[in-house]
Amino acid sequence: MVKKIYLDNAASSQKKPATVLKAMTDYLSNIGCSPGRGGYDCSLKAGRIVLETRLAIAELFNVPSPEQIIFTHNITHALNYAIKGLVKTGEHVITTSMEHNSVIRPLKSLEKEHKIEVSYLKCNRQGLLDPQELEQTIKDNTKIVVLTQASNVTGSLMPIARLASIARQRGLSLILDTAQTAGLYEIDFTELAIDVLCFTGHKSLMGPTGTGGFALTKKTAAQMSPLIEGGTGSISDQEYQPDFLPDKFESGTLNTVGLAGLKAGVEFIRKTGLAKIREHELSLTARFLAGLEKIRKIQVHGPKDISLQTPTISISVAGFDLGELSYILDQRYGIMTRSGLHCAPLAHKTIGTFPEGTLRFSIGYDNTVAEIDYVLKSLREIIPD
Ligand SMILES: Cc1ncc(COP(=O)(O)O)c(C=O)c1O
Repeated sequence: MVKKIYLDNAASSQKKPATVLKAMTDYLSNIGCSPGRGGYDCSLKAGRIVLETRLAIAELFNVPSPEQIIFTHNITHALNYAIKGLVKTGEHVITTSMEHNSVIRPLKSLEKEHKIEVSYLKCNRQGLLDPQELEQTIKDNTKIVVLTQASNVTGSLMPIARLASIARQRGLSLILDTAQTAGLYEIDFTELAIDVLCFTGHKSLMGPTGTGGFALTKKTAAQMSPLIEGGTGSISDQEYQPDFLPDKFESGTLNTVGLAGLKAGVEFIRKTGLAKIREHELSLTARFLAGLEKIRKIQVHGPKDISLQTPTISISVAGFDLGELSYILDQRYGIMTRSGLHCAPLAHKTIGTFPEGTLRFSIGYDNTVAEIDYVLKSLREIIPD
């Protein structure tokens, strides 16, 4: 049987730490009830898991207090909460040309229905952005900047410190999409003065699917309307949604089993060390990039420089259909990759790979040198010189 090699970590990390599985099994075996809804022992224990997960996330991103962490089911929900809850009719919003559809689509629908104006900062063919672009695009009615910290197509990192500083100086709210960076890079919510930091649990944070959320400042929370309203287990005599955190934005029974796993995922990352995880994944990326350079028919898109990118690599191959290549890699070699547009069509228009897309390899913490060498050998075998 062919050994399976998973290289789709930009979509979801596959093998979770054993502690994540244990935490989830423990919750289902020994607790199993709703948090914050009853005064009995297992409900209090479930509530404690939720609070501890909030604390772990707040500590990871340096957020002042745990009630500023709101849980959702993924970052798509978090971004919708932030964008639709903050943007008002007539406002101008700035985003980049490398965004995922979870940013582009909510903005497009607001543009159509609520007459907001959207500008897209033009990134270059490597998917990199000159921060000057932001300075030059701000108008009198600009209120919000929505940015991904790294592209899920090329791995390109945005100059986030500089962009955040421009947004702060010009009085703009900053919504940050950390789908490709949380759990890999240090992200300081307070230092960067981010207004809404959106995260997803199932990628580098090592949690299960169905987890994610956002951190927000108290000032932003007061200005933001909740997208979803309903039961919170608090002030139930009132027919209006609570206006305090986290309840204002957290209606309905939480995914407690998922949060138990997410907490263990974050603990694993902190214990192992972000730098250690990042260095491992980036050294494999450098090795992979060097190997790809030697295969004549392969064109690598993106920075090709590990100081400017995450462990995500996109390629095109002259004379090959990328869907077919992905299929061959999976079926004959046991290598799991993803081909196509990766829910980011604008990014492909930016780097010149629309509409065919790219073949994407995204490296994770459990990949090894031997696996990267095997993938390179397999590519050399499939693609004649
Ligand atoms: C940059 C970026 N934003 C948003 C998302 C959406 O993530 P989720 O499916 O967890 O909502 C992804 C997922 O690939 C992504 O890479």
